[in-house]
Amino acid sequence: MEILGIDVGGTGIKGALVNTETGELITERKRIPTPQPATPVAVTKTVKKLVDFFQWKGPIGCGFPAPIQHGVARMAANIDKAWVDLDVEEMFLRETGCQVSVINDADAAGLAEANLGAGHGRPGLTLLLTIGTGIGSAFIIDGQLVPNSELGHLRFKGGIAEHYASDSARKKHNLSWSEWGKRFNEYLNHVHGLFYPDLVILGGGGSKKFHKYEAYLDVPSKVVPAELLNQAGIVGAALSAQQLIKRSQVAK
Ligand code: BGC
Repeated sequence: MEILGIDVGGTGIKGALVNTETGELITERKRIPTPQPATPVAVTKTVKKLVDFFQWKGPIGCGFPAPIQHGVARMAANIDKAWVDLDVEEMFLRETGCQVSVINDADAAGLAEANLGAGHGRPGLTLLLTIGTGIGSAFIIDGQLVPNSELGHLRFKGGIAEHYASDSARKKHNLSWSEWGKRFNEYLNHVHGLFYPDLVILGGGGSKKFHKYEAYLDVPSKVVPAELLNQAGIVGAALSAQQLIKRSQVAK
């Protein structure tokens, strides 16, 4: 099946047509800067621009940086507050006329890695963490996604974990890779002590820099960088749309 995968991020909205059987991108990845402020109307218009760019009329899977419950955004940490309690699926559908399914961006990346990347065929609990503006998380249990885990919002060191250990925290506080690597390791040990994952996959922008901080990580479980790198969000969003379409066909 061909699905337009879209990844809504803090700085860019990216899309490509995905072959959901192989996970390959059928087209080049197109990126449009995220409008600032990233209000619902402005972002929705940008999504429409992407759809028009690909002249697409088929189904769309979209990863979005917020917990998403049945298409509705439930919290806005790194996006415009106006998104809270808005039906993102409904907004994108109305603007594009396409069938749209929206999931959390880290869940999308987790789905892609579990099916086609570093977590493929792994039993037990795989935890994917995305390191970027925030910290996103995905729980994959025996290949099944449990959505909206939001581990970047754990209380940690008297504040919110992603304020301490995300990539934007590294940039904001001008931390060296060793300083940041030690911080991230503290966070990872905290998470490990709560969930004892069998495998940890690190995704998001930070996955490309894994070699710079790998030496500072000492959690007992295996920790690997994501294999699909920055394509995971697009591919996973398309996979999730495909799963929904298949489920609705079975229900008919
Ligand atoms: C949001 C998550 C998102 C993560 C990465 C966090 O601030 O709450 O929903 O997955 O950032 O974008």
